[in-house]
Amino acid sequence: MSNTNIDKIAVMTSGGDSPGMNAFIRAVVREALENKVEVYGIYEGYQGLIENKIKLMDYDSVCNIIQRGGTILKTSRSADFMTPAGRQIAAKNLDNLGIKALICCGGDGSYAGLKAFANKQDGQWAGLVLGAPGTIDNDVKGTDFTIGYDTAINTAMHAIDNLRDTGDSHSMHFIVEVMGRHCGDIARAVGTASGAVNVLIPETATNIDEIVNHIRSKGHNITVVAEGDETGGALNLAKILTERLCSTGDKNCKPNFRVCILGHIQRGGTPTARDRILAHEMGVFAVQKALEKHSLSAVASQAGKLVLTNI
Ligand code: F6P
Repeated sequence: MSNTNIDKIAVMTSGGDSPGMNAFIRAVVREALENKVEVYGIYEGYQGLIENKIKLMDYDSVCNIIQRGGTILKTSRSADFMTPAGRQIAAKNLDNLGIKALICCGGDGSYAGLKAFANKQDGQWAGLVLGAPGTIDNDVKGTDFTIGYDTAINTAMHAIDNLRDTGDSHSMHFIVEVMGRHCGDIARAVGTASGAVNVLIPETATNIDEIVNHIRSKGHNITVVAEGDETGGALNLAKILTERLCSTGDKNCKPNFRVCILGHIQRGGTPTARDRILAHEMGVFAVQKALEKHSLSAVASQAGKLVLTNI
């Protein structure tokens, strides 16, 4: 690769979609064209790469998408790409088109895919691979922020603002479940921004007594729980808390809990300015680094600056 000119690159999105992925794709396409580099879009993530769903992109392919959530390239989670046989087909598809670098926007699973794809011991793809962090979970190692996180926390915060209005009118205590299988960043940020009385995250042990005391002393309010918290999420937590609060056996004990699971609402929607800017800058940076022939690297935001980290 050291003597090869990087004249064709490909861009894809992988894993769970996140708001800002379109702004990223747009930036990659436009920066590549600006540098007279041919740019291909891979549709439906790694599965699409295996199934040869690859199309040449032009300036107009990315018109009017910067403000849209989701990903125009679509995305998938591919079991086939986890096998050497699947990756070999994918490599052949890229080689047939003469593609020299692959830029993938996704989470840690997508990065693992890139790493396996460029693993020379496996006799895999000889081109360059670069990642960019796209996931609402904010759980990609080496970067302070991932594309989509800011939008997701704003979406969840606005939803909780609405819940507060009705909760306040009816003296209800809302237990709100936010996304985050292994990471409590969304829950922590949203809990703080919406003034929740309790925030439960996977990274720390949950003290039910403390939560019960907060609820007893503060009355109706908001508890935010990350889906991956050890209590098992909002429905389970409501059960645990009801049992504890009514442990004296009082038959009239009926805590006014309501459960709201925000789910995939957090993954959709118009990206915030912050996510669009992050995605744009990361897309431009990724192309520049590909042209400088970096590989097995990921774009990251550290202390307000873009850097390359080891994938
Ligand atoms: O994108 C990350 C994430 O939102 C996790 O927080 C969540 O558990 C997961 O994706 C769910 O994704 P899916 O429903 O697509 O499997």
